[in-house]
Amino acid sequence: MNNIAQIIKQALFDVFAIERDIRLSRPEQQFGDYATNIALQVAKSLDKKPRDVAEALVAKLRETNVFTEVSADGPGFINLRVAATSLARELEQDWNDRFGENQTGAGKTVVVEYPSPNMAKPYSVGHLRPGNQGWAVKCLMEASGWKVITDNHLGDYGAPFGVWVTGFLKFSSDEALERDGVYELGRVYIATKQALKHEKERGESVLADEVQQWLIKLEQGDAQTKAFSERFNRISLEHIHKVMRRLKISTDYELGEAFFAPFGKVAILKLLETGVAVQNEDNSIIVPLNDYGFDVPLLVQKSNGAALYATSDLATILYREEHWHPDKVIYCVGAEQQFYFMQLFAMAKKLGITTDLYHLWFGVIDQRNDDGTREKMSSRKGVILMEELLDKAEERARSVVEGRDISNDDIQKIALGAIKFSDFGADRRTNILFDWDSIFALTGFSGPYIQYAAVRVNKIINDNPRAQTSEISDYDYETEKAILAKILEYPEVVELAATSIEPHKVATYLYELAREMNRYYESTPVATGDVSPVQKQARLGMLQKVSHIFTHGLNLLGIEIPSRM
Ligand code: ARG
Repeated sequence: MNNIAQIIKQALFDVFAIERDIRLSRPEQQFGDYATNIALQVAKSLDKKPRDVAEALVAKLRETNVFTEVSADGPGFINLRVAATSLARELEQDWNDRFGENQTGAGKTVVVEYPSPNMAKPYSVGHLRPGNQGWAVKCLMEASGWKVITDNHLGDYGAPFGVWVTGFLKFSSDEALERDGVYELGRVYIATKQALKHEKERGESVLADEVQQWLIKLEQGDAQTKAFSERFNRISLEHIHKVMRRLKISTDYELGEAFFAPFGKVAILKLLETGVAVQNEDNSIIVPLNDYGFDVPLLVQKSNGAALYATSDLATILYREEHWHPDKVIYCVGAEQQFYFMQLFAMAKKLGITTDLYHLWFGVIDQRNDDGTREKMSSRKGVILMEELLDKAEERARSVVEGRDISNDDIQKIALGAIKFSDFGADRRTNILFDWDSIFALTGFSGPYIQYAAVRVNKIINDNPRAQTSEISDYDYETEKAILAKILEYPEVVELAATSIEPHKVATYLYELAREMNRYYESTPVATGDVSPVQKQARLGMLQKVSHIFTHGLNLLGIEIPSRM
């Protein structure tokens, strides 16, 4: 809470002897600088009319002499106006303590799981949002005092391996694999899946049997099979790491499905022992979830004894409980798996697990067709590869700064900033539209727009070393009032983004701050032109705080600021 909220809290206590935290809103300029509906909130419990509560508080608040204007409004709102100097003073006094970091998660541990791609195919845009959102959530939780453990839950187990070996021997060669690496594996995978489909349509199962044979051999630990598995996995993993490095994301652990496979049997035994699961006559094992409102039970073992996705996830939950003792686990996975996770979490509850398991899901990425309609992003070849997307973004970034002397490093920051920021354009549940023009637009809600605002502030600060002068205290800060109020909002924005697990709230805030700054420059000279030494020093001081916020806020979203743009 900021000072103003504290003062209202105190007034509420003094007049009515109740303690409540105050959340301020920012009304339209004609009403005031801040507003609160606290009178409405507490009136009922005080058995009074909201308007009367508001009036009593207003009288008390006037006595404090902090506000230039206090008034009761409507059924129970209070509008407040403050002098710009008191905002400036507040910033000088306790800004550093509250700056963007809070302790809401102190003493608690959270596991954040992302981007969890599948090994059989090259990294596609399908795992863009899990990675971006996951990384931002990790940063937000850290800034809120949580102990954060990150884990890349790789899809590295099961049928794909059998498909790879079968397909590799039939459709590929050592040379092709050496040359094209994971892209060859991806091609082989798709071609083999096709062949399997055609074979099935013909009522045959030669290839399918071969796939099974390889899987059995892998389980038996056959040496040649293991060599294949290690070779394919190494190629795929190197690729995943390369893409993650380009995306500037990483995780502490990389415990994929294969790691948990051996624990699956134990997990299933535990389900049976506790009566959470039942075995059917055909040997399959299910967890009925009727008592949790699901008609469909969760299948954890097939009739042939094979483990499933859910089995591995159950083993994962048990492993994390035992080794990490988390208070919360956040799964950053697309919306398609919503139902699955609801079932999974219900099963965990039945087993007595009380950890807060949370599916952080998001909508798909759409693209605009030539006729203006929207559909899920894809290319003529099918999925869009992450590396292609990044290459194309770098090309775009290069053309944005065309003719200027901008380093490669900065171009990469702009490209990545554009892609990532667009991911935070709205509530994560909405499908986002990937539109190259607006992603790179230098005005409007875009990464480059915010980065440019940050570069501009940084340049002014660097070009004008700030002198310490005591006369600043005489400055009235009226021109800066809107920005000062905006700066003071920041700690609460970060806290709210973290508690609601909504990184886009930080993005929205940064956009508003950038817009406010651009408005400010239009009317106010900061370092050159018609500016007095006192004005200049006061303004530079404020700019330093703005710069600090851009750096901190963009960093929370995994976005870097170029040195030039
Ligand atoms: N590999 C999966 C996919 O790409 C995502 C894994 C999600 N995490 C989990 N614990 N199931 O669809």
